Amino acid sequence: MASLRFFLFCSYILLISPQILIKAQQPYIRKLNTNCGIRNASTSVLGYACNGVNRSCQAYLTFRSKPPYNTVVSISNLLNTNSTQLSQLNSVSESFTFETGETVLVPARCSCLGQFYQANATYVIRSGDTPLLIANDTFEGLSTCHAIQAQKSNLSVNIYTGSRLTVPLRCACPTEKQAASGVRYLLSYLITWGQYVSSISAIFGTETGLTLEANELSELDSNIYPFTTLLVPLENPPSRSQTIAPPPPPATSPPPSPSPSVAANWCNFAIFVHW
Ligand SMILES: *[C@@H]1O[C@H](CO)[C@@H](O)[C@H](O)[C@H]1NC(C)=O
Ligand SMILES: *[C@@H]1O[C@H](CO)[C@@H](O)[C@H](O)[C@H]1NC(C)=O
Ligand SMILES: *[C@@H]1O[C@H](CO)[C@@H](O)[C@H](O)[C@H]1NC(C)=O
Ligand SMILES: *[C@@H]1O[C@H](CO)[C@@H](O)[C@H](O)[C@H]1NC(C)=O
Ligand SMILES: *[C@@H]1O[C@H](CO)[C@@H](O)[C@H](O)[C@H]1NC(C)=O
Ligand SMILES: *[C@@H]1O[C@H](CO)[C@@H](O)[C@H](O)[C@H]1NC(C)=O
Repeated sequence: MASLRFFLFCSYILLISPQILIKAQQPYIRKLNTNCGIRNASTSVLGYACNGVNRSCQAYLTFRSKPPYNTVVSISNLLNTNSTQLSQLNSVSESFTFETGETVLVPARCSCLGQFYQANATYVIRSGDTPLLIANDTFEGLSTCHAIQAQKSNLSVNIYTGSRLTVPLRCACPTEKQAASGVRYLLSYLITWGQYVSSISAIFGTETGLTLEANELSELDSNIYPFTTLLVPLENPPSRSQTIAPPPPPATSPPPSPSPSVAANWCNFAIFVHW
């Protein structure tokens, strides 16, 4: 009897949350972006997997204004995007200068190259640059040292001052499941200090659960770190009214609650041992 009740409980969980059974989104990068020597294939250090409905799509990125990349033109040049479109997306003029630290929305053409999605930026190497400095300090985490190294394999040992480098920016296109639930765009959001998945989702009016799922995170496993990207599913293009709105009320860590996927695993196990 007890096991029948348990089975019904499990069936209920499986019925109300079919999405927890499908794991076809993108793994969050965690802290692996800084260890350039280790390339963990089960994570997204090389980029987001090319698992979407389309092999190319319109995507969005965020960038934090930081001199010399603090104007519409300099940010567009760095991120290889159309400055007219960037100014329109941010509702500012093409000669606008952003305040340092301001969140800038960036349109990006995202396409599959091999196994991973990327938006191409080109960057001229300066003296003292390393893949980590380029990925973390200049591109603020929109790329990784791993992805830059993978792209420049032909330069093998050194990166030369003055040479041009393709920097793959992290972007992705909606999966079939996301598309079915109305998601049309994925935003690669650059995390900064003091943010939670819930507070970032609130900026864009996205349900926290949808963002957690997009990054293969769960309420019990939702730690995120500055200078990494979080994918935020969107139904409509993002707007400056969202990014300049006063921050949502002080974010608190979501209260721990039983993770549905843990419950589901537990149920699978119970069903397995029972039959
Ligand atoms: C790769 O990353 C995953 C997720 O963080 C971790 O569980 C796994 O142990 C890592 N593997 C290696 C070889 O470091
Ligand atoms: C940039 O975007 C604008 C508006 O969409 C378009 O008119 C213009 O041709 C684009 N410029 C380039 C260089 O693609
Ligand atoms: C991006 O850059 C890579 C490497 O240089 C190149 O193979 C690829 O065709 C580029 N993608 C686009 C869409 O330009
Ligand atoms: C990445 O850049 C930020 C800001 O410049 C810095 O605080 C952080 O320590 C850097 N991380 C690494 C691993 O270099
Ligand atoms: C590497 O670069 C050299 C010189 O630019 C070029 O001749 C060669 O074809 C490149 N190799 C590959 C695999 O792209
Ligand atoms: C895939 O591309 C087609 C054709 O451009 C478009 O109509 C459709 O909305 C795209 N699907 C997604 C999920 O982006």
